Amino acid sequence: MANPPYRITLIEGDGIGHEVVPAARRVLEATGLPLVFVEAEAGWETFEKYGTSVPEETVEKILATDATLFGAATSPTKKVPGFFGAIRYLRRRLDLYANVRPAKYHPVPGSVPGTDLVVVRENTEGLYVEQERIYARGKVAIADRVITYDASYRIAEYALRLAERRKGRLALVHKANVLPLSDGLFLEAAHDAAKRHPNVEIQEVIVDACAMRLVRRPQDFDVLVMENLFGDILSDLTAGLVGGLGIAPSGNIGDRAAIFEPVHGSAPDIAGKGIANPTATILSAAMMLEHLGEGETARRIEAAIDRVLETGPRTPDLGGRATTEEFTDAVIEALQMT
Ligand code: NAI
Ligand code: MG
Repeated sequence: MANPPYRITLIEGDGIGHEVVPAARRVLEATGLPLVFVEAEAGWETFEKYGTSVPEETVEKILATDATLFGAATSPTKKVPGFFGAIRYLRRRLDLYANVRPAKYHPVPGSVPGTDLVVVRENTEGLYVEQERIYARGKVAIADRVITYDASYRIAEYALRLAERRKGRLALVHKANVLPLSDGLFLEAAHDAAKRHPNVEIQEVIVDACAMRLVRRPQDFDVLVMENLFGDILSDLTAGLVGGLGIAPSGNIGDRAAIFEPVHGSAPDIAGKGIANPTATILSAAMMLEHLGEGETARRIEAAIDRVLETGPRTPDLGGRATTEEFTDAVIEALQMT
């Protein structure tokens, strides 16, 4: 665990990243914690400038600091030679094996009261090994879905520790009824990991039934762990349960580095207008503080966000008229009252 002063890498990225990351920085500065910020570059603009979307210097800064806050990166819609997606590259390069997506009720339209769960998605294998082949003169396509014992054990271990710090319940999400070898291996590894965490109540849930139960009664869940594709899909579903893109934070966590980022993208349609909702990035910053062992301050930030979401001002995506700056000012004011 890191010790204060905490060193934080800030990467704005592209589009509204230039607006929401500075907003989150102001909130972090207002917490009174000893923080040192290091700025780094990544994304499409970085690619245009240097010919790479992630300069080596950025990787070095991420590794040399305690945690990283990332805004968003634009991906071109057409294939550009030499370009690769910054976040995907960093996940792989730094072995950020846990993608962590909390879904918690916030006082915004469409958020389901009582929801407080976390989707823990395996981030390194499954279908995302990107091994596809074509056979039969183009009429058959096969994609490999790789499940290993070690990666499954590692992600289960992360989820078990998280469950221990929360409500003590973990759902193992799978499709072992159809895929007994691969998802069976996932379950075997997860149950092995669980032997060392007897306080966590384990439940197996088949992925399709899980989707329905999440929609009907999200309050029943605490931590859910699953392989890559199931996590990709269900974590968007759970973001939808609590108010959508402007709100949803995430973390990409490995043993050597951790990068926190809003779930949304660079929002080119509103970039530069000063009206982006910084909530998802501020909540990502709170997750980052929790990760650094500053849970109390993280909860103060969440409470300040909720107070402002409840009483206003709100940004246009939530039906208000506030700018990013006005919203952030209100969050800082609420933070200083707690
Ligand atoms: P997007 O999340 O950027 O935007 C979708 C819609 O939600 C837009 O109408 C946008 O204005 C709105 N929106 C998103 N975040 C908002 C916020 N904080 N406040 C207010 N409104 C917000 O997704 P889209 O349009 O599919 O992608 C745009 C670019 O972002 C693409 O280049 C895409 O590749 C990239 N992207 C990057 C991600 C990342 O960096 N992790 C994730 C998703 C997309
Ligand atoms: Mg997704």
